[in-house]
Amino acid sequence: MSEKAELPVTVPSLQTKKESKEKIVALTAYDFPSALILDQAGVDIILVGDSLGMVVLGYENTIPVTMDEMIHHTKAVSRAARRALVIGDMPYFSFHQTEDITIANASRFLKEAGAKGVKVEGASEKRLKLIAAMVEAEIPVMGHVGLTPQSIHHLGQFRVRGGDEEGARRIMDSAQKLEQAGVFAVILECVPMELAGTITRVLKVPTIGIGAGPLCDGQVLVFHDMAGYSTGYNPKFVKKYADMQGVLTRAVRQYADEVRGGIFPDDSHTYHPKKKAEA
Ligand code: KIV
Repeated sequence: MSEKAELPVTVPSLQTKKESKEKIVALTAYDFPSALILDQAGVDIILVGDSLGMVVLGYENTIPVTMDEMIHHTKAVSRAARRALVIGDMPYFSFHQTEDITIANASRFLKEAGAKGVKVEGASEKRLKLIAAMVEAEIPVMGHVGLTPQSIHHLGQFRVRGGDEEGARRIMDSAQKLEQAGVFAVILECVPMELAGTITRVLKVPTIGIGAGPLCDGQVLVFHDMAGYSTGYNPKFVKKYADMQGVLTRAVRQYADEVRGGIFPDDSHTYHPKKKAEA
């Protein structure tokens, strides 16, 4: 990695990347060792997504994820990140009540967990006011429109959003209102690439796509999906760059066979008493 690449990524440096057409690389992480891999591999943004609930904690969706769970995992990620910008995902019901509660929750990501900003799903009128209040309280906020998994019970299923004219218009409108509310970037999830391209051209702040095609200013994927370390269904937009599930299953099977067969531990993995010094 070049010396320049090792400078810590900041909110303003993301804006510079957009302006100089340098793609922004983002991935999720939820623990120290994977965050260390991402940071050392030069990922720009580590998002501690509430996808944590599904890929790490085994929940059916992201709704049960709590603030305490998010803070616990964000702390571990922040301990590993030297260069990457760590963003904490505000879980369901952490920003749905009053301004005071929202700011108190968002500030925990910065004060307790070492994150440099938070991400918030949606762009309702109330949400936009809360986002503006968080920005006013010096909390950098990333927006998230298109498919917003915390709305699963409204949406019914995870599928592409903005495929028709009316839906596309609504998503464009939300993205622009988020920019006006002060977000430093907008995640576009599961939208047609043509719409993502138009939003990317119109917005001054960077767009980060997931299932939104190549025209966004950056890309994000869930680490466990791209590493082949998740068991569930993977949508079309996920490219698997490794097969960690297979690698680890084979390793654990071999370990079990070796323990059962008396092959492990062998002498090279075994301690012996110190030899007595010769008289
Ligand atoms: O929770 C998450 O990981 C996310 C990304 C998929 C954008 O919101």
